[in-house]
Parts: sequence; structure tokens; C-alpha cells
Amino acid sequence: MTAVEKHLVVGVPEETFPNERRVALVPAVIPGLIKKDIDVLIEKSAGIGAGFLDSDYEEKGARIAATRDELFSLADVILQVRALGANPEAGRADLIRMRSGQVIIGFSEPLSEPTLNKELAERGVIHFSMELLPRITRAQTMDALSSMATVAGYKAVLLASAELPRIFPMFMTAAGTIAPARAFIVGAGVAGLQAIATAKRLGAVVSSYDVRPAVKEQVESLGAKFIELELETSDAEDKGGYAKAMGEEFYKKQREMMTRIVADNDVVITTAAVPGKKAPVLLTEEMVKGMAPGSVILDLAAERGGNCELTRAGEKVEVHGVTILGPVNLPSTVPYHSSQMYARNITTFLLNMIKDGALNLNMEDEIIRDTLVTRDGDVVNPHVRELLGLSPAESSEGRQS
Ligand code: NAI
Repeated sequence: MTAVEKHLVVGVPEETFPNERRVALVPAVIPGLIKKDIDVLIEKSAGIGAGFLDSDYEEKGARIAATRDELFSLADVILQVRALGANPEAGRADLIRMRSGQVIIGFSEPLSEPTLNKELAERGVIHFSMELLPRITRAQTMDALSSMATVAGYKAVLLASAELPRIFPMFMTAAGTIAPARAFIVGAGVAGLQAIATAKRLGAVVSSYDVRPAVKEQVESLGAKFIELELETSDAEDKGGYAKAMGEEFYKKQREMMTRIVADNDVVITTAAVPGKKAPVLLTEEMVKGMAPGSVILDLAAERGGNCELTRAGEKVEVHGVTILGPVNLPSTVPYHSSQMYARNITTFLLNMIKDGALNLNMEDEIIRDTLVTRDGDVVNPHVRELLGLSPAESSEGRQS
């Protein structure tokens, strides 16, 4: 008879970033892990902020760790929403709890907060960053950034509608007919498309612009109007389907052409992003001045510098009678479903590197290779190394663990 093998232990600590209400695993995904001979350990009360009780996790077969120290000492793999880079202050307290060979998976802003990865490497931690997931078909079910952007696009419209001194849908009442609100969505990526769908559901007249002509069909399929600007955009999309940075001359022309459209709308929601770059400035103070008093701008790119030059991240400002919202961490304000989606994404990601109940870090798999940031005491991701001024690492392709 062979000895009973120790199961891999996956641990979920409570999130410690201020006001973060999401949790990395929800009870519903636990049976799928147990079926693969994985033990699941949840820190006491970790799911409360998202609406999941310890008993809900226990019913699905997880165990509850009474303390954070216990969780970190027993877990082989730690799953977080905000790992160290995405929780740079409160997250530091966990560094001493980590041990060599422990795997940490979560959002960690590796390209904007690269330095903390040095500390993770020093602790010998194997760190995977969910932001580095390649946007390929096989990784779609793991794409947590897209899940969170979907939630943000939805919530953006609700926030803007609550701020608007007008009603969104058309009303036909005994007191007269009320015209529907007009909403313009700038950037029709994941967040933008969900904002379009939500604004349509609320009854607004919706239009949208994106530099990638390929999204026209998607915008129209949601019942919105795709605005065509006379700008040369045939070169605006990279091989991965993302927007490329277009240069200041382009943005200047874009702003000029959008001025009238912005003035004609009651709500403008901006979601324009170029990966790895600061958000392009697409709304100037002059354009805001042209809007009717009471209009609302919701800038989803606030955290990356903002698409509107008047945006202040995390704040609501009023300029020239226009309300400008720059909300941050919107997914955390819808914690139940954000956690549900994140849990599915991260579970699929984890199971992709499990073979026969054990971790199998196959560096030929681009999903594993691209998301790996630290390993064997070193920062191994080429982009992060470059940002840290480190020499290119030896190729780790083909290495197995
Ligand atoms: P995405 O990459 O899917 O979409 C961005 C879109 O902007 C792309 O379709 C791109 O072609 C378009 N774009 C780029 N430059 C443009 C320009 N000059 N004019 C018009 N469109 C342009 O990104 P995703 O996932 O939809 O995220 C959108 C933004 O929302 C990002 O800035 C992201 O950081 C932010 N976000 C904010 C959250 C919050 O709580 N505030 C939560 C989640 C995402």
C-alpha cells in the first residue's frame, strides 16, 4: 500500500486593502477544487464583505483557518484578489508570513508597482500576476481583468445615472413626455461595451467611439450608434487586439472632433485605455465648458491618470456646472458578483497548472510563462525586469517544476 499523499493546500486570506470587499474564492467553486484532490483553507470571515459566511464555505468542503498566520503557514498556494503590488501598504504585513516555494496568485499591478516584486523574490515566493494573462482564446475563462472591467462598466452607468438631474429612459406621462438621456461612451473595450449595454437597458440613447474600427459591429449589435470620426485608425490595433498609443497629434484632432458630440450628450463615460500607458487625455476643460449644466462625466480611467484632464481619482468634482466622477475600485462595490467571477477565473487559472493533484509549472504554456513574475529568488518576467533595470533573464522556457 502506498503512503497517503499530502494534498495541495490552497489558502484564501481576507483582503486587507482599505474598503476592499471582494474575496478570491466563493463557496461555489470549492467542490471543483476538492474533486482535484486540493484542500481549501479560508481565513475566518474572509468572505463576509462579499456576502459569504464561513459556514457557506464549510458546507462546500473548505476548512476555516482561525488566524492569518495559520493560513499562510499551512497553504502551499495563496489566492488573493489584491496581492502585494495591488495592496502595497497593508499587504506588507504578509511578507514575513510568506515562505520560500509558496505560490501567490492575484492582481498585483506588476507594471505600475514593479519594485515590490524584488521583495517577493527575496522571500523565495513564486508569484503569478493575473494582470499579465495573455488575451488569447484559451485564457478567456481566466481573464479576471475583463471580468472586473465588465462590472466596472455596469456600475459606471448606475453611478452616472444617479448623479444626473435627468431621467434616463423616455417617460410618457400625463405631465408630458420626457425625452431620454443621451449617453456617449468613449472606448468600447470590455468596460465600454458593458456601459453601452447598461445605458441601453436604462433607456438612454447611446453612442460610442473607439479608435479600433473592429468594434463598430459590437457597438451596433448592442443597439448603440457607432460614431465615425475622420481620423486615420487603420493602424490603431495591435496583434493582440489592443489599442496602440496614437501620438499627441492624433489625440488633438480626436478632441476637436469630439467636442460637439460631447456637448450634445448628458452623460459621457470614458474608458479609453492603451495597455501599459497612461490613459490618453480625450476631454479638456474647454470641452467640459461646452457641456450643458448638470451633465455628468464618469471617467473610468481615473486610476491611470484619467481620460478627462479635470478628473481626480476617487473624487467627485464640479466644474462649469458639470459633475466629473473618477471612481476607483468599482468592482469592490459589487463584491458578490465580482468575487463570483474572479473566483471562476482564478480557479480555472490554478487548475491549468495542476497535474495529478500537484503543481506543474510548464513553462511551455504561455499562460503560465507570461503570468509568472518571481521564482527561485529572482524576478523572472522580462517586462518587470526591464522596469526594474535588471538585465534580461536567461530563458526559462521549457523548465518544469
Ligand atoms: P480595454 O482595453 O478592453 O478597452 C479600452 C478601449 O479603449 C479599447 O477598446 C481601446 O481601443 C479604446 N481606446 C484606446 N484609445 C482610445 C481613444 N483615443 N479613443 C477611443 N477609444 C480608445 O480595457 P477595459 O478592460 O475595458 O478597461 C477600460 C478602463 O477601465 C481602463 O482604464 C481600466 O483601467 C479601467 N477600469 C477601471 C475600474 C475602476 O474601478 N475605475 C475597474 C476596471 C477597469
